[in-house]
Amino acid sequence: MSRDEKDRLMDHDFDGIQEYDNPIPLWLNLILFGTIIFSLLYYLYFQIGPLLGTSGWTVVEAYENAKAENLRMRFAEIGELQGDEATLIRYLQPENSEWLAVGQTVYRTHCQSCHAANGSGLVGPNLTNDLYKSVENLTDLVKVIAEGAGNGAMPAWRTRLHPNELTLVSAYVASLRGQDLPSPRPPEGKEIPRWPTAMPEAPPEDSDAADEESDLSDPSDPSDTSDTSDTSDTSDTPDTPAILDTEP
Ligand code: HEC
Repeated sequence: MSRDEKDRLMDHDFDGIQEYDNPIPLWLNLILFGTIIFSLLYYLYFQIGPLLGTSGWTVVEAYENAKAENLRMRFAEIGELQGDEATLIRYLQPENSEWLAVGQTVYRTHCQSCHAANGSGLVGPNLTNDLYKSVENLTDLVKVIAEGAGNGAMPAWRTRLHPNELTLVSAYVASLRGQDLPSPRPPEGKEIPRWPTAMPEAPPEDSDAADEESDLSDPSDPSDTSDTSDTSDTSDTPDTPAILDTEP
C-alpha cells in the first residue's frame, strides 16, 4: 500500500474535519473480536458449566467446597463425636473454644433466625436462662436439636447437620446458658439443675471442675488447644500428620 493510497482523504468533511479511508487497525480488531470470543468462553464456563453438574466453577462454589473440605479435614482431627455428656462437657472447656466456635458458626447459620443471635429467643425460647421446656440435662440438648420439638416448631436437624456439628452446636447452646439475657418472650419451661460441671463464667467451681474434666478428656486433647494454622505442633495426635500429607 503506497503512502498516498494509505492516507487518502475521503471526500466528505464535517465542519472542516476530514478523515482518511484507512482500514481498522489490527490492534483495535484484536480487542473487539478478542472480547467477543472471551465473552462467549466466559458465558460457557460460568453459565453453562455449572448446569453440567460440575461444582467448584465459580469463586463462591470453590470457596464453599474449600470450606467443606476444611471442615472434613478438621473433623478428621477429632473423629466422630458422640453426643454424650462427657463429650459435651469436654467441648465446653476453654481449651476447646476453637471447636465451640465451630458450634457457634452452625448456630449463626441455622439457629439464630429463631433463637436470636445471642440466644435470647424470638420464635424459639430463650436459651440463655435456666428455664427449659424439653431439656433436663446436656444430652437432652442433643436430642432436642436432633429430633426437633413442639411438633416441628423446632425443626429436627439430625439429617441436616454432620454429627459433629450437632454435638458442637449442642455444646454451644449449653454455653449460652447462665447469661440470663432479657428476652422478647415470656419465661417458659421449668428451671433445671446446673450443667454437670461449672460453666466458664462461674469462677468458684472452676478449679475443681477443671481437674475433673482433665480426667474425662482424651489424652490427645492438648493438640486441640494449638492454633489450627500451627498444625506442625499437633504431632502428638498420631492421625494429624497423615491427614495433612494426604490433603493438598
Ligand atoms: C424455625 C424456627 C427454629 C429454628 C430454625 C431453630 N429452632 Fe430451636 N426451637 C424453636 C422452637 C419454636 C422451640 C420450642 C419448641 C417447643 O415448643 O418445645 C425450640 C426449642 C429449642 C430447644 C429446646 C429449648 C427448651 O426450652 O427446651 C433448643 C435447645 C433449641 N431449640 C436449639 C436450636 C438449635 C441449636 C437450632 C439450630 C440448629 C435451632 N434450635 C433452630 C424454633 C427453632
